[in-house]
Amino acid sequence: KKISIIGVPMDFGQTRRGVDMGPSAIRYANAVERLESLHYEVEDLGDIDVGKRASVEEDASEKLKNLKAAAAGNEKLALKVDETVKEGAFPLILGGDHSIAIGTLAGVAKHYENLGVIWYDAHGDLNTGETSPSGNIHGMPLAVSLGLGHSTLTNIMGYSPKVKPENIVIIGARCLDEGEKDLIKKLGIKVFTMHEIDRLGMTKVIEETIQYFEGRADGVHLSLDLDGLDPIDAPGVGTPVIGGISYRESHLAMEMLAEAELITSAEFVEVNPILDERNKTAIVAVELMGSLFGEKLL
Ligand code: ARG
Ligand code: MN
Ligand code: MN
Ligand code: MN
Repeated sequence: KKISIIGVPMDFGQTRRGVDMGPSAIRYANAVERLESLHYEVEDLGDIDVGKRASVEEDASEKLKNLKAAAAGNEKLALKVDETVKEGAFPLILGGDHSIAIGTLAGVAKHYENLGVIWYDAHGDLNTGETSPSGNIHGMPLAVSLGLGHSTLTNIMGYSPKVKPENIVIIGARCLDEGEKDLIKKLGIKVFTMHEIDRLGMTKVIEETIQYFEGRADGVHLSLDLDGLDPIDAPGVGTPVIGGISYRESHLAMEMLAEAELITSAEFVEVNPILDERNKTAIVAVELMGSLFGEKLL
C-alpha cells in the first residue's frame, strides 16, 4: 500500500505564528523513514503552496480571520487530496493549523458515501462565525465539514456537506464553547470527553468507536490535533488545554485503530515548533504515525 504525504504550511486559521513550520518539523522527526521502515511505499508530495495571509486591512473586513487566504489554501489542498485518493494511495496530511481539515475532508469525502471521522482533539472545532469566541477558522473545520458556517468555506470543492453528524466521533474533548455544546446535543454527535476516557479507559473508548463505525462508514478519516494529547507530552501547540490524553493512551488508540484496519486517511495538525521543546511534539506525532501504520513493540 502506498502512502502519499502532503504538507500544508498553513497558519491562517489562528493567530500564533509558527504552526506553518509543522510539516518541516514532522519531516525532520523522520516521518518518511519511519513509515518506510514499516514497508510502505511512501511518496512525499512536498508542501501545498498556501499563499500568504491577509493584510491587516483586508482582514478587518471579515469576521473570520484570513477567510480568503484560508479558503484558497484549502481549495488547493482539496484538489491534491482528491488526486491521491483517486490514485489509490493513503493520504497522510501534515499541518498546519486545524483549518486544513476543511480541505482534507473536501478532497476525501467525495470518494465515500458515508465517510466516518475521528476527531482526536481537546476542542470540538464546531464553531461558526456566530458562535466563535475568536474568529479563528481552526476552531471551525468540523462545523464547516457538516455544512455549517461561511459559504466560502462550506462550498470548497463545490459540494456540501462533506460529513454527516452521525458519522463523527470526537475523542479527547475538554474545552468546548457553549455554541459547540449546543450543536453537539442538537445533532447528536458522539463524543468521548476526557470524562469518558477516564471512566471507561481508552481501550473501551476505541472499541466502542470501532463498533460505532461498523456497518455505518465506508471509510474513516483520522483528524488528529496534537492538542488532544496532554501538553506535558505535546507542548508545541497553539491552544494547549491541561488534563489531556496521555502519550501511552494515544499509542494504544493508534495501535487499536491499526489492528482494526479502520483508517483510510489521516492528518496530524497543530504542531508548532516555535512553541515546542526540542521538537518533542513533532516526534510524538511521528511515533503515533508509526503505531497507526502498524508498528509493534515486539
Ligand atoms: N474553541 C476555540 C475557538 O473557536 C479554540 C479552537 C482551537 N482549535 C484548534 N484546532 N486548536 O477559537
Ligand atoms: Mn484542538
Ligand atoms: Mn476553548
Ligand atoms: Mn482542533
